[in-house]
Parts: sequence; structure tokens; C-alpha cells
Amino acid sequence: MKHILITGGAGFIGSNFIHYILSKSTDIHITNLDALTYAGNPENLSNLELDPRYKFIHGNINKLQLLEDIFQETPIDHVIHFAAESHVDRSITDPLLFIQTNVLGTANLLLHAKRYWSRLDPQSKSSFRFLHISTDEVFGSLEVDEPAFTETTPYAPNSPYAASKAAGDHLVRSYFHTYGFPAIITNCSNNYGGYQYPEKLIPLVISNAVSGKPLPIYGDGKQIRDWLYVHDHCKALHTVLEQGTPGESYNIGGDNQPTNLEIVQMICNTLDEFLPKSEFVPHANLIDFVKDRPGHDRRYAMNTTKISRELGWQPVESLESGLRKTIRWYLDNKDWVNSTLGKEAHRNWLTQNYESREEEDK
Ligand code: NAD
Ligand code: DAU
Repeated sequence: MKHILITGGAGFIGSNFIHYILSKSTDIHITNLDALTYAGNPENLSNLELDPRYKFIHGNINKLQLLEDIFQETPIDHVIHFAAESHVDRSITDPLLFIQTNVLGTANLLLHAKRYWSRLDPQSKSSFRFLHISTDEVFGSLEVDEPAFTETTPYAPNSPYAASKAAGDHLVRSYFHTYGFPAIITNCSNNYGGYQYPEKLIPLVISNAVSGKPLPIYGDGKQIRDWLYVHDHCKALHTVLEQGTPGESYNIGGDNQPTNLEIVQMICNTLDEFLPKSEFVPHANLIDFVKDRPGHDRRYAMNTTKISRELGWQPVESLESGLRKTIRWYLDNKDWVNSTLGKEAHRNWLTQNYESREEEDK
């Protein structure tokens, strides 16, 4: 039986990963430590409440005593660190919160994980892994014709979010080089899929389109992202956990390059097909260009040769097939969507982020 401590497992990727790993292996036990910020939703994991392989701890990675207790009481084989403030727009309005969670929180977790690891017997010590989940945004922004980011591209973060993730990555790296602590970093591109909090582009556009609300596109909509279906990310993380080399980092991405406008149009076309009787067909008529994000990165692209060549991972879903699954998920999970959209934190965010954008545009 392997025991994995997961931080941030009630969020989008963490909850998908917990579902994925428990469906793949019967001999895994998960402890999920999550502060349940606006982005953490216990409903994402409600089907596991009675599963003896799953334990939830409501708590913050910045609570040192809590971390100490967890590492004292639980025989942990691996740590997977998802917990973070993850939304670029929120980092522009509240950068200090991102430092607290993504930098100090990571520092606290590293300190306790490393203390625990140094007490282990030699065999457990050598199989222990600390997997740190990071982002392509640490590499900065690319021009349209520049080659994709590799693992050796220098860090050049542009938003407070990206800078806080870069700082966390540097700390993780330093623990390997200084203490030999067996940490691995993964840098992944934009994820999409079920259970994503509906203030990120794809779930926001789906839920707005279904109810006939404007589909806000920042600036000219020609920014490019590399989109990866979340299940493919989960498979990549499992592969890295099992086969990755401590001290290394691995780029993960979906190898596609649509503009934001193209991806919104794809969602609209798919909704036209899935909901032909909707009064909002054609959904693309709802597209609304709004004031741009400050410092908006123009393009991200990931070179995934290393993980593909060394560990044999490749994404399974194309952008089209992944988007169809995702849209179907949001249409089929109305209770989840409505309960998330109904939360006060979500309504406040929509007011804060979009009303001033529309006003400044007029
Ligand atoms: P998310 O915002 O959906 O979830 C974050 C989770 O962390 C939430 O459950 C939240 O409650 C928890 N959390 C926040 N602060 C905490 C704290 N101080 N202590 C304990 N728990 C805390 O994020 P996500 O999209 O699932 O991203 C997960 C990780 O993957 C993040 O580290 C993010 O930087 C990284 N990442 C995300 C993407 C993406 O496209 N979503 C892409 C690449 C990397
Ligand atoms: O690249 C990986 C990153 O992807 C992760 O590290 C982050 O945690 C994750 O949030 C995501 O960041 P983005 O800023 O790219 O995601 P978001 O969904 O907020 O925006 C995607 C693109 O769509 C981006 O270019 C901004 C644009 N956008 C976003 C929103 C919310 C719009 O045009 N309109 C919007 O309303």
C-alpha cells in the first residue's frame, strides 16, 4: 500500500488526479490536505467520502503545526503538491496572497517534507518523491514564430502568479541541489476538463453561452495557449511519479496552438451542435471583446520531447475530442455547475473582474 499526501486535491486538477489514481490502483491511500479556498470544492470528491483509501484534511499548507502533525502521524511515500492560488487575473488584484500560498506555502511544505524524508530508512528514503506541480507561465511569453519552451528555457515570469510559481519552483530545485531531496518539477500548459472552477476561460465560456450571457474575450483574442485535457495531465503526472528522475523537470503540453478567439468559436460551434434548439444559436453571436488583461502574455507553447522520449508519455485527446468531452461534462453536471455559479465568491468575482472592463471599454 502506497500513501500519497496530496495538497490542493479539492481543486480542479487535484480532484481529477485523485479520481484518476484511485481508479488506476487499488493499493494507494490518499490524504488530501486542502484549505478550501474559493477554488476548492469538496463536492468534487463527494463520491469518495466512504472510501477507506481516501482521507480529507481541511487545512492550510501555511499552518506549520498541522504539517508537523501530518508528517508525524502518516507514513507518507510521496507528496504531490498541487495547492496554489492559480488564477492570473486574481494575482493582478491580490499579489500578496499568491506569495503567501505559492512561495511561503511551498517553502513550509518543503521544510516539513524534507525533515520527514531525512528520518526515513534507506529504502523508503530512496523511493520517496516530492512532485511539484508547476506551469508553463514561468517561462514568459513567446512571439508567434519562436520555438516552444523546453526544460532549459530560462525563467522569465510576467504576472505575479507566474512569478510566485517560479519562486516556488526555485525553492524546490534548491532542495534537490542542497539536500539531495528527491523532488521533481512538472511544468504544464493550460488544462481544461470537468471540475474546473468556472472563472477560467473554458468553463466560463461554456456556462455563459448556455445561459445567453456575453462571452468576454480579452483584447484582440489572438493570444495563443497550448491546451491539455486534464486526464492527459493526470496520466503524465502518474508517469513522472513512477518513472521520473529526481532533480529533473518535465514539460507537459497538448501540442496545439489555437488563439483564444478560435477556442471560443470551437466551443460555440459545439454548443450549436449539442443544443440545436437553444434560443442562443448561433452562440458565437454572444462573443464580446473586452478590455485586455494587464501584461497579458501573448503566446505559450510547450516542447514535450523530453517526457515523450524518456518516459513514453503522449496526450491521447485532441483539442477537438477533449473539448467535446468537456462541454458534455458541463451540460451533464448541472447541479455542480449551478452550485458553483451560485456561490457568493463567484458572483463577487464576476462583478470585480468584468464590470469595470465593460465600463472602461465604452
Ligand atoms: P485550483 O485553483 O483549481 O485549485 C487549487 C486548490 O488549492 C484548491 O482546492 C484550493 O482550496 C487549494 N489551496 C489554495 N491555497 C491553499 C493553501 N494555502 N493550503 C492548502 N490548500 C490550498 O488550481 P488548479 O487549476 O487545479 O491547479 C493546480 C496546480 O496546478 C497549481 O499549482 C497550478 O499552479 C498548477 N497548474 C495549473 C494549470 C491549469 O491550467 N489549471 C496548468 C499548469 C499548472
Ligand atoms: O498556462 C498555464 C496556466 O493556465 C496555469 O498555470 C493557470 O493556473 C491557469 O489558470 C491558466 O492560466 P491562464 O491565464 O492562461 O488561464 P485563463 O483561463 O484565465 O485564460 C486563458 C486565456 O483566455 C488567457 O489568454 C486569458 C483569456 N481570457 C480569460 C478569461 C477568464 C479571456 O480572454 N477572457 C476571460 O474572461
